[in-house]
Amino acid sequence: MPKGFAVIPMGLEDIGPNKGVPVPQIKKGDSTKSPTKQSKPGALKIIAISGSLRKKSTNTGLIRACININNPDLDIEWADINPLPMFNEDLETNTPEVVLNLKEKVRKADGVLFAVPENNFNVSAPLKNAYDWLSRGETPWKLKPCAMVSSAAMTGGELAQKSFRQTVGYCKVNMMEKPEIYVKRFSGKYFDDDGNLVDEETKDHLKEFLVAFADHVKNNKV
Ligand SMILES: Cc1cc2nc3c(=O)[nH]c(=O)nc-3n(C[C@H](O)[C@H](O)[C@H](O)COP(=O)(O)O)c2cc1C
Repeated sequence: MPKGFAVIPMGLEDIGPNKGVPVPQIKKGDSTKSPTKQSKPGALKIIAISGSLRKKSTNTGLIRACININNPDLDIEWADINPLPMFNEDLETNTPEVVLNLKEKVRKADGVLFAVPENNFNVSAPLKNAYDWLSRGETPWKLKPCAMVSSAAMTGGELAQKSFRQTVGYCKVNMMEKPEIYVKRFSGKYFDDDGNLVDEETKDHLKEFLVAFADHVKNNKV
């Protein structure tokens, strides 16, 4: 296992580290706003999708933390999947604008970052729904470089990530293998009450994760 990454083995026991120093990344009360959008000319364009619709979602918090880390090679934009309707083939006779917009964003992006919550040992319904929409017709994937982070309860999201890796295989997404980020959100003070990542060690892991992701996107650009 590479040194320094938050790879937390799956298990029912609480074994996550708890070395958090509570330093809210953005002002208290601000966290329920969408993660900020960056604009960095020349940087790789990344679309970030959180599979939790919750305002104080810790998965969206991970995406917000990635944006705040401000990796110079990555221009990360959060794409809100809240407005997507449930997938229904009948709607494809006149595909909703929100679906077309998301598809276009993903098509134009150099890479996609997913925050993958775990519900009942699997990917959350909103993320699966978004991917179902994005797997239809002319898909925007075409071996596009992607990566995943997760915040969940007892597994840290490992089962959801495994399942999602299999799901995205259908469209031949180029998912980064390592490092892996699984935050067992209840096993320590990783997040504040608003879903902001406050654990410095996890922020460091995320920094290294983003460096690896930038390399993955650069080396596999389509
Ligand atoms: C219906 C439901 C099922 C869940 N199933 C799992 C699970 O299988 N494994 C797990 O680690 N956590 C599970 N959780 C806990 C969530 O993953 C956890 O609360 C997570 O932080 C939610 O993501 P969010 O903070 O981004 O909203 C479940 C939560 C709910 C509501």
